[in-house]
Amino acid sequence: MKIDSICCIGAGYVGGPTMAVIAQKCPDIKVTVVDLNEARIAAWNDTDLNKLPVYEPGLAEVVKEARGRNLFFSTEVDKAIDEAQMIFISVNTPTKMYGAGKGMAADLKYIELCARQIARVAKSDKIVVEKSTLPVRTAEAIKSILDNTGNGVNFQILSNPEFLAEGTAVQDLHNPDRVLIGGNDPEAIQALAEVYGRWVPQERILTTNVWSSELSKLTANAFLAQRVSSINAISELCEKTEADVSEVAKAIGMDSRIGSKFLKASVGFGGSCFQKDILNLVYIAKSYGLHEVADYWEQVVIMNDHQKHRFAKNIVRTLYNTVSGKKIAMLGWAFKKDTNDTRESAAINVAQDLINEEAKVVVYDPKVEKSQIEFDLGNQSEAIAVETNPYEACKNAHAIAILTEWDEFTTYDWQKIYDSMLKPAFVFDGRNILDKQKMKDIGFVYNAVGSSN
Ligand code: NAD
Ligand code: UGA
Repeated sequence: MKIDSICCIGAGYVGGPTMAVIAQKCPDIKVTVVDLNEARIAAWNDTDLNKLPVYEPGLAEVVKEARGRNLFFSTEVDKAIDEAQMIFISVNTPTKMYGAGKGMAADLKYIELCARQIARVAKSDKIVVEKSTLPVRTAEAIKSILDNTGNGVNFQILSNPEFLAEGTAVQDLHNPDRVLIGGNDPEAIQALAEVYGRWVPQERILTTNVWSSELSKLTANAFLAQRVSSINAISELCEKTEADVSEVAKAIGMDSRIGSKFLKASVGFGGSCFQKDILNLVYIAKSYGLHEVADYWEQVVIMNDHQKHRFAKNIVRTLYNTVSGKKIAMLGWAFKKDTNDTRESAAINVAQDLINEEAKVVVYDPKVEKSQIEFDLGNQSEAIAVETNPYEACKNAHAIAILTEWDEFTTYDWQKIYDSMLKPAFVFDGRNILDKQKMKDIGFVYNAVGSSN
């Protein structure tokens, strides 16, 4: 079956970029991305490409090429479902905050709403593709809803999890390590494989059964997050022993069985998915009575929480055990560089801890809006200030904390910043991006994650 019309429900960090690239690479397929959020759709349609709701290097160019040609953003969900042969579900699957599984399980209410809407609207056969990250065996529930509430049309369910990372989404989509398609209908699998086959080499398109595909996504994120927690655990030991975590990471990473990627010690991992997906895995394991499996993976999140809090504690301890009334400049708010996404960013936890110690926190981030920072802090937002100029943020500060590894931080005139600060001038580099020796030569008291001073 040749696909000529696709609908994607959910115009977020995954739906938007993924569909933009499919539309770019398949000019003969009409791709419509729909969302209930009118402001988000308006932003995707904004003629000013700087106002797209998702900031990703290279994304504006892709949208510019395809939008209006075969890529459309709309709030007319029913119409897009009706017209499409293939429907991607790319809605959010946050951690459930109520009832059974509260704080652990994935909240699947948005997924179920989509399934019910597809069933109600569809008047012709559809291939429904799970793009959201879902607990293993969710396809079973979707199939049941579609078959029991539909209009007698035929639905095929595929699992096609997304592995893009924010900040490199376009690059990851253009050149994925692999595309994973789980399903049991060869024709439906083939139809989706042909879409990706326009630009992804055949050998990187992997097909599995639905359950392996669903579980592979959770497993991939769990393994990646585990590497970060593992190196962060070692970073604390380095700080006590005069070992240097960057040197340790390099030494172990040269072992081809370990590999060098994802071994950067940090203030802790953030982002909307790692924690949510591991907690979901823990919940699934518990629900099958596999308590040792659950405990094993939960430790990755426990270690990450510890890393975030100990970063803030170290600031307080180093500043003579009090930061009350002291100005602390936080450079970076996004959970990693090259994104405006702040979900679960370690910066939020660090700011909260410092505010609880009555510090005067001033934040600068090159891409995150003031309103977003205030939103992230909720009722604590009045305790911070947001600056649009990094030099102003650092002026008269007692200490600087680097929370995101934005490249521009390495290009600053650090002598000028030093001259404008109170002395001793402390820097807490939560990303190890600055040159330790240079910073010390200027006169900073420089603290990095995973090495002693
Ligand atoms: P998001 O919150 O940015 O976007 C989801 C969108 O879905 C929102 O705009 C919301 O308004 C919309 N939506 C929810 N219910 C809807 C409905 N019934 N009808 C129409 N629109 C609806 O989320 P995201 O970051 O794009 O993540 C989506 C999924 O992809 C999640 O399961 C996530 O785990 C997974 N994922 C995310 C990433 C990432 O980098 N963010 C990477 C891989 C996988
Ligand atoms: C991650 C995965 O890398 C993607 O494959 C996956 O698709 C996605 O989650 C998802 O399912 O949402 P993302 O969270 O966008 O992507 O970004 P990562 O590059 O994985 O970084 C996650 C966090 O770990 C960031 O806070 C980052 O700063 C931190 N990190 C990463 C480290 O602290 N050290 C490292 O070595 C690597």
